[in-house]
Amino acid sequence: MDAKRQLKLGMFLRPAGHHIAGWRHPDAWADGGLDFAKYVEMARTAERGLFDMMFSADTLSGERYDRETLSHTSYVAWIEPMSLLTALAPMTRHIGLVCTATTTYEEPYTLARRFASLELISGGRAGWNVVTSANDSEALNFGRKTHLPKAERYRRAREFVGVMQGLWDSWDDDAFRFDKASGRFYDPDKRHRIDHEGEFFKVHGPLTVPRSPQGQPVIVQAGASEDGRQLAAETAEVVFCAHQTIETARDFYYDVKGRMPAAGRNPDHLKIMPGLGVMVAPTRQEAQDRWQQLQDLIPPEVGVALLSKYIAWDLRGLDVDGPVPVVPQDRGAPTRSALLSETARAEGLTIRQLYQRIAGGRGHFQVVGSPRDIADLMEEWLVTGAADGFNIICPYFPSTLDAFVDLVVPELQRRGIYRTTYEGRTLRENLGLPRPPSRYGASRDAGARKAV
Ligand SMILES: Cc1cc2nc3c(=O)[nH]c(=O)nc-3n(C[C@H](O)[C@H](O)[C@H](O)COP(=O)(O)O)c2cc1C
Repeated sequence: MDAKRQLKLGMFLRPAGHHIAGWRHPDAWADGGLDFAKYVEMARTAERGLFDMMFSADTLSGERYDRETLSHTSYVAWIEPMSLLTALAPMTRHIGLVCTATTTYEEPYTLARRFASLELISGGRAGWNVVTSANDSEALNFGRKTHLPKAERYRRAREFVGVMQGLWDSWDDDAFRFDKASGRFYDPDKRHRIDHEGEFFKVHGPLTVPRSPQGQPVIVQAGASEDGRQLAAETAEVVFCAHQTIETARDFYYDVKGRMPAAGRNPDHLKIMPGLGVMVAPTRQEAQDRWQQLQDLIPPEVGVALLSKYIAWDLRGLDVDGPVPVVPQDRGAPTRSALLSETARAEGLTIRQLYQRIAGGRGHFQVVGSPRDIADLMEEWLVTGAADGFNIICPYFPSTLDAFVDLVVPELQRRGIYRTTYEGRTLRENLGLPRPPSRYGASRDAGARKAV
C-alpha cells in the first residue's frame, strides 16, 4: 500500500498573536514581538512539533491602521525578519526559516546576498516569501508618494526573482578548491556573471556568497490575484494563501497547479499551504469558551479598522450591526477584499460578524475545537486536494502554539498524515522539493559561459 501523503506545516510568527485582541488575553505574551527570547521559545516549540518552517511576514511601514486605533493593535513594531532568522539559525537545527522581502522596494543584488548568507548560516533552511507589497504606505519610506501600479509591480517581481535565482548560481557547487599546494582558492571557470539587463534591473554579478547546501533558498509566494497566481505557477515552490471555504481553496489549488505544466514545471514541486487559524483545547466546549473570551476582547473601533483595511474600504461611521456594504473591486485592491465581500454577501454577515470572523485568522480559515475536530478538517483539506499543508496561525502565544503541538500533532501522527521525525537536513528535503541544478551545470566543462 502507498504511504499516505504527509501534511507540511508552517508556523506563522506574530509573537503578540494573530488575533487582534490576542495580546490582551491573560495568558498571552503582550511583548512577544519585541523580545528576542520569546521568538527563540516559539522556534523551539515549533521544532518540537516537527514543523517544516516558521514564517516571518514583513512590511516596510508601521502605518497599517487608523491613528485612533493604532494604540490598540499589536502589529506595529517587531524585529526585522532577516536579522531575526539569522539569529535563530544557530539556535535551531531543523526548522525552515522563511521571511518576506518585497520586490517593489528591495534591490536584487543586496537581497540575494542576504538570503544566500542565511542559507549558509542555517545549513540550507532559508525561504523567501516574494511579495509585491500590499501596504500602500511603504511607498512613503522610499521617496515615492504612491505604490507602483499592480501590473508594473508584478513585472518587476518576475524580473526580480529571475535575477535573484541567476545570482544564486554565481558559484558552482564545487567552485572552491582551497588548494594550498597549487595556491588556487577557487576555479575561475566555476564562477559566473549574470550580466542581466532588463526593464527594471541591470545586474552584472557574480554574487559574493557561494551556492548553498540546498542549491537555492525555497521560493514562497503569497499573492492570490491573477498576476500572483501566474507568478506562483512559474516560480513558487510554496504558496501561502487565505481561504474562507474549502471550495475556494480547492479551486485555487487546481488553478495554480494546473498552470504549472505550461510553465514547464511539475505540480508536485509546489506545496500549497493555506493559513489556518487554530484554537484547540481537550474538548470542543473548552475551545469554544476560550475563543469567545478572546472575541469579547475586541474593541469595536479596532474591529472596524481591521476590517476596513482588509476589505480596502473605510467602514467607520457605519452601523456595526448593519450589513457589510458592497465594495467596488476594480481599484487594484488586494484579492482578499473580493473574498471578504463575497463571504459577507453570501452569508448575510454584519460588519461586527465579519470583523469577528477575520480578527482571529486575519482572513484565513479559522477552526475552533477538539484535537479530533482540527485533525478531521486538516485531513479533509489534504485528501480532497485543497492543500498540501497549512501555515498555522496562533491567536496568541505561547499557549495556543503549545496546545497545537501537544494535542493536534499527535493526532495527525496517529492518522499517518504527519511525520514522526524530520526526513532531511535542508528545508527542501523536508518539504520533498528537488535541489535545483545550477543553470551553468551543462556548460561547465565546455568552457564556462560568462565565467569570470
Ligand atoms: C499568508 C500570507 C502572507 C502574506 N505576507 C505578506 C507580507 O509579509 N508582506 C506583504 O507585503 N504582503 C504579504 N501578503 C500579501 C501578498 O503576498 C500580496 O502582495 C498581496 O496579497 C497583493 O497581491 P495580490 O493582489 O496578488 O494578492 C501575504 C499574503 C498571505 C496570504
